[in-house]
Amino acid sequence: KKRVVSGVQPTGSIHLGNYFGAIKNWVALQNVYDTLFFIVDLHAITLPYDTQQLSKATRSTAAIYLACGVDPSKASVFVQSHVRAHVELMWLLSSTTPIGWLNKMIQFKEKSRKAGDEEVGVALLTYPVLMASDILLYQSDFVPVGEDQKQHLELTRDLAERVNNLYGGRKWKKLGGRGGTIFKVPEPLIPPAGARIMSLTDGLSKMSKSAPSDQSRINILDPKDLIANKIKRCKTDSFPGLEFDNSERPECNNLLSIYQLISGKTKEEVVQECQNMNWGAFKPLLTDALIDHLHPIQVRYEEIMSDSGYLDGVLAQGARNAADIADSTLNNVYQAMGFLKRL
Ligand code: TYM
Repeated sequence: KKRVVSGVQPTGSIHLGNYFGAIKNWVALQNVYDTLFFIVDLHAITLPYDTQQLSKATRSTAAIYLACGVDPSKASVFVQSHVRAHVELMWLLSSTTPIGWLNKMIQFKEKSRKAGDEEVGVALLTYPVLMASDILLYQSDFVPVGEDQKQHLELTRDLAERVNNLYGGRKWKKLGGRGGTIFKVPEPLIPPAGARIMSLTDGLSKMSKSAPSDQSRINILDPKDLIANKIKRCKTDSFPGLEFDNSERPECNNLLSIYQLISGKTKEEVVQECQNMNWGAFKPLLTDALIDHLHPIQVRYEEIMSDSGYLDGVLAQGARNAADIADSTLNNVYQAMGFLKRL
């Protein structure tokens, strides 16, 4: 079976972008592939964060995975920091990662610009190396992510090839290994729709956990009234009718896309239904569709959170499954890089 891995950071609130760009697609993939889904808590410390919130946010994110339909009898669900190999492989990989590759990362440039020099930890720069470890440890074939992770996936592929060339093949065989490639080179799976959900307050910037205004996003756990309020206040325009793909109407395109995704309709159906509407007619329609879709997820979320033993069990089992695979890759890397074996 081909293998799929992916993860979400446990910072703040999980929103529609995370759902349509990633989590919702995992649910379909778990029926076909060998899947591992992690909560990337180690990635969440790369910007200043609240120690009182991290473990809560981690459990809550795990519960959201399950509430959205990730099934622990099919997928391994675990917390990144519970599998030590992630950090260990990161060190080994960082020795082969050119610093120039990291300096080019768009997310690093954006986030470090906002934070200011004294506040940028080294981990913000080396973050993609940890992400590469998350993926390469599991010999993953596919990585379902939103558009904004594409560049990190490219770096992961380049790094896998670089390590394979430097340490794999005959050189590894001479050291007593099996030879051949050390890492499988993974491919991103970016959904045709939903890969880039935009902000509710600005159709040109993406919906994001770190945006200061909560009005800019719909969180999976937002109560009904808040959803209604956010949609009522979201940015629109004064063109007649509603349409997709008009570059002068980014907000319109985004809201129609969200409606299409959340209602499960086709683009043509949405065009037929909405092209002659005004915002006053469309907004309640979108609000109801959002509430109808998110409400059952929220009910399941509450159930899962109220049974902490169950969630802990899922995460413990997930970490055991993951560590088995991860440790075997990690041992291969140590061997191929020429380290003395611990007896
Ligand atoms: P994160 O936590 O920022 O986002 C989690 C997932 O949600 C997607 N996403 C979006 N998709 C569509 N529209 C949006 N507005 C939007 N915002 C976020 C992201 O593309 C991502 O798929 N570095 C990663 C987490 C990570 C990871 C990994 C992912 C760490 N290691 C290994 C895959 C494999 C991140 O910070 O995602």
